[in-house]
Amino acid sequence: MGWATDYLAEARAAIVGAATEQELEDARVAYLGRRSRLTDALRSAKELSVEERAELNRTKAALEEAAAGAREQLRTRELDRSLAEEQVDVTLPGDAVPRGHLHLITQIRRQVEDVFIGLGYEIFDGPEVEDTYHNFTALNTPDWHPSTSKNDTFYVDEDLVLRTHTSPGQIRFMETHEPPVYMVSLGRTYRRDTPDPTRSPVFHQVEGLAVDRGITLADLKGTLMYLSRALFGDDRDVRIRTSYFPFTEPSIEFDVSCFRCSQEGCPSCRYSGWLEMGGAGVVDPNVFGHVGYDAEEVSGFAFGLGLERIAMLRHGIPDLRAFWENDLRLLRQF
Ligand code: DAH
Repeated sequence: MGWATDYLAEARAAIVGAATEQELEDARVAYLGRRSRLTDALRSAKELSVEERAELNRTKAALEEAAAGAREQLRTRELDRSLAEEQVDVTLPGDAVPRGHLHLITQIRRQVEDVFIGLGYEIFDGPEVEDTYHNFTALNTPDWHPSTSKNDTFYVDEDLVLRTHTSPGQIRFMETHEPPVYMVSLGRTYRRDTPDPTRSPVFHQVEGLAVDRGITLADLKGTLMYLSRALFGDDRDVRIRTSYFPFTEPSIEFDVSCFRCSQEGCPSCRYSGWLEMGGAGVVDPNVFGHVGYDAEEVSGFAFGLGLERIAMLRHGIPDLRAFWENDLRLLRQF
């Protein structure tokens, strides 16, 4: 077969010279495909001598081997190229992805919860739409009390209100738990106020309640002192003043020593050296009567204060409306 040697050389050159897989495939079809001269010759094998057939078969095997080798080489070259081209420089600085964070009021809420969890209190969540029994009556608040007025309270209907304080949480908790009770309840509260620097129709409170044998006003003061120091710093002092709430007797309001001026007198504390924090007192026996607790057996204290007020005092924020405006320039600072 005079042509076989040339054919082999020519085909090998085409196969080895293919720069892409497509070129390689074209060469394979041309020299090894069904219509190639080689295949054609093998098809008419009957007319060939044994030696001729053997030569053609050797040629075919040699070309197939060359094509397989060339394919392997092209793939390796392509892999090397993509590895070199697509490599990532891990030493380049990354793109900073902006990350959000919790609202200041949520941070304070969690901080207060942590303080009381540390003291062994339970966290309780009461409904924001509350019935008048839990919001007023069971808290020893008669229906002629000004806080029940439709000018002060959002009524959903005659018997349902948006809770005006977190105090109904006390009642709901005692209804479902026997003493001893150590619980705090934090959340949104509502009053019909026009927004101004110190008032908002929606705000947040923390309510605390402890009921056990032999609880006294001294326990209350110690607890308020502990909370105040956790929120405002180790050196804070707490003072209590007499006050009135329907659900406590005696009732007090408590102040924390001004940390802006170390009690020298400044505009924050109106030159009194003290910052007003919230209300508290010894649980009125009438409240225990509503939940079936025996006031001869147990006694308790309760307290309530606003989370926005904590934030404003601690961070010197002059206007409560700032917490609802979502101005990132303020929110980003905390
Ligand atoms: N509920 C009162 C308010 O919203 C705050 C308060 C005062 C809560 C005395 C108490 C308390 O638990 O004993 O102004």
